Amino acid sequence: MLTPAQAPAIEDLYRIYKKRVPRVFHDYCETGSYTTSTFIENTKAFQNYHLRQRVAVNIDNRSTESTMLGEKVAMPVALAPIGSAGMNHADGEILACRAAQKFGVPYTLSTMSVCSIEEVAAHVERPFWFQLYVMRDRDFTRRMIARAKAAKCSALVLTLDLQVLGQRHLDLKNGMSSPPKMTLANIANMMTKPRWALGMLGTKNRTFGNIQGHVAGVVNMEELAEWTNHQFDQTLDWSSIDFIRKEWGGKLILKGINDVEDAKIAAKKGADAIIVSNHGGRQLDGAPATINMLGPIVDAVGKNADVWIDSGIRTGIDVMRALALGAKGTMVGRAYVYGLGAAGEAGVTRALEILRSELDITMALCGERLIKNIGRHNLLDAPAKSR
Ligand code: FNR
Repeated sequence: MLTPAQAPAIEDLYRIYKKRVPRVFHDYCETGSYTTSTFIENTKAFQNYHLRQRVAVNIDNRSTESTMLGEKVAMPVALAPIGSAGMNHADGEILACRAAQKFGVPYTLSTMSVCSIEEVAAHVERPFWFQLYVMRDRDFTRRMIARAKAAKCSALVLTLDLQVLGQRHLDLKNGMSSPPKMTLANIANMMTKPRWALGMLGTKNRTFGNIQGHVAGVVNMEELAEWTNHQFDQTLDWSSIDFIRKEWGGKLILKGINDVEDAKIAAKKGADAIIVSNHGGRQLDGAPATINMLGPIVDAVGKNADVWIDSGIRTGIDVMRALALGAKGTMVGRAYVYGLGAAGEAGVTRALEILRSELDITMALCGERLIKNIGRHNLLDAPAKSR
């Protein structure tokens, strides 16, 4: 259990996370690609959007409840897919999914998760969303979609911004892989994290659970790493979306859109929602902060598709800013990973409590009672072109 006094804000969860999780995984999470300019810009840019402070409005009986994909949510914040989340805490994906479901927000399991889709489905009560990376091995992709259907996943999140990997220098220096290279430095550092190490010793989930055992000829870790590195499909184009849509047949969310032209095509493809995302600053270094692209994208396609946003959200105030610009939903990545590494399921719950409480109070101070009433009128300045 983490009390509000122990962790009043997401940054407090981060401080505990940093102490408890081995450096190799901390660095994997807490960085961006190349110069990390987009990673840094993502969080900073939110502060350029000023909220209008309104007073003497009856703000009794407020609610942060809303809907995402037509389903009721405790607040319009879903947990983003995080590869290797289960290396931050033993059985991390199961714990994060449980926390999300008990709280009443959607959870997205990554293709590159540690706990497999079947393992998570067996340990949680309700359907979750599955995030797909399209692999060159289209048979594997087909089977992955079939597995998501068999696990009763309620939506497919197709990530489009990772056909090649943006280099993260720290991962190269640290020998990051799942599991990481057992360099002397990594072993020495892990020995200083006994709570983490004990947890890991107690679980069998320590590699890419969705992949190992599901690809012919890939038996050991070296073969798995080699296979994964060459599998992200560089031929993926908009026509591939039709193939995925046909195979899946259910609700489809397109993730990784950060440009108005792409948003228009994505909406035409009939996506149920699109996520304005730059992968948390981990892919195109130099890409704009997503909050700066949100307004133009909502203006271009908001009538045809639900527009959501992630990348850089660390507070409920940021969620309010995104909703004010027209987002119908948000996703958080690192904000919940910090909680997961800090205290497992209780840590993720705490992260969600923090975000909800901040959103609730911010709504109140802006004079809003309902999520559906939030809009551009809550912002002091109309988004300027230069942003
Ligand atoms: C990610 N992200 C990601 N996205 C995805 O579609 N599949 C994945 O496997 C991963 N893996 C992953 C690992 C880690 C450690 C991070 C930090 C991020 C991107 C993620 O879903 C989301 O877009 C960002 O995390 C949002 O930015 P914030 O909230 O972390 O700033």
